[in-house]
Amino acid sequence: MDYFDYRDGELWVEAVRIKDLANRFGTPLYVYSKKTLVRHFQAFDTALKGLKHLTCFSVKANGNVNLLRLMGGLGAGVDIVSGGELFRALKAGIDPKKIVFSGVGKQAHEIREALKTDILMFNVESAQELERIGRIAAEMNTTARVSIRINPDVDPKTHPYISTGLKKNKFGLDVLEATGAYLLAKATPSVEPVGIDCHIGSQLTQLGPFVEALKKLLAFADRLQSSGVDIRYLDLGGGLGITYSEETPPLPADLGRSIAETLAERKDLTVILEPGRAIAGNAGILVTQVLYTKKTSAKNFVIVDAAMNDLVRPSLYGAFHRIGEVTPRERKPILVDVVGPICESSDFLAQDRLLPALEPGEVLAVFSTGAYGFSMSSQYNSRPRAAEVIVDGDQATLARRRETYNDLIALES
Ligand code: LLP
Repeated sequence: MDYFDYRDGELWVEAVRIKDLANRFGTPLYVYSKKTLVRHFQAFDTALKGLKHLTCFSVKANGNVNLLRLMGGLGAGVDIVSGGELFRALKAGIDPKKIVFSGVGKQAHEIREALKTDILMFNVESAQELERIGRIAAEMNTTARVSIRINPDVDPKTHPYISTGLKKNKFGLDVLEATGAYLLAKATPSVEPVGIDCHIGSQLTQLGPFVEALKKLLAFADRLQSSGVDIRYLDLGGGLGITYSEETPPLPADLGRSIAETLAERKDLTVILEPGRAIAGNAGILVTQVLYTKKTSAKNFVIVDAAMNDLVRPSLYGAFHRIGEVTPRERKPILVDVVGPICESSDFLAQDRLLPALEPGEVLAVFSTGAYGFSMSSQYNSRPRAAEVIVDGDQATLARRRETYNDLIALES
């Protein structure tokens, strides 16, 4: 459930009119609802209440420092995949003891930075990475806590670009290789194996794949125990899907219940989840203005001021995002493509969509864009990135100012 709704003939976020935000901050504009973010985080925390647990918000979904600070204040940890994300998390005051570091290509400087801040653990994705972490930790006279990321070969039944737990994916190690990695970790004094990790994919709309992966992890944990490796953490990654259109994904509570049931005898383990989309996705919208409408012999185009540089999901994954007027009027719907100003035909926010016959100057909301919206944005076509605003009740705070033309060239010598 989110706090964007139509009341009195217009779209509101909490107690603020979207139209007023568009006037005050300009468009394109990302708008986040604090109440929604809090509610979604707490849904995960409550779902895992009966278990020892840590909810680590996945920074890649939305790395705005203000949003991360909000998460940290609620007790969240974070899942990071780069030194840049570590930097953001620390700036936001996230407790390093609640930071897990995933990703297949951690660089030496990133490993050093994470060791220096003494993060909770590295989720290790290859034997070479394990060796490198061990060597760097030894040089720094410290111990690296690690989990090995298992690739359980489970089909998450989602878009191929965001499936990560299949044998053919670059992520993690299969159970055979992982066994070797744990034995290596155990034999390396500068490394302490403390957990098992997996993340099978994103935008999952069924519980089955989560449970299947969890069962494989638990069976593996048992085998490890008999080889003398005792783990304390079970990191199941993120991936819970959201409703973009007609999907009916399980709720965090459903996931929590399944995890609790499946864990049965292993309630000693601390469960870590790394949700990104399920917390932030429906807590944000992209506000954009119609520039022109154009009718060709083949199509009706609505040209708006947001483009694939602001929201790449439709172009990259063929993703669906609901689009609605900020001030709806009764009009005959027509079939349109909603496109941006960028000079390529992959620049669309919606294709063949039934929308009311829109007019220049109208403001639209592109829904479900709080995750992987701004964080995947770019300056392509030298378009300054959009501003971001967080709304709390009747207050709107600029969380990131709109970029300027000078920002575009600031790093060029
Ligand atoms: N943990 C790890 C190790 C991950 O790789 C991911 C996402 C997450 C957690 C968070 O997953 P979530 O709960 O948000 O599904 N750009 C794509 C999504 C890429 C997801 C990559 N990994 C999109 O816009 O759909």
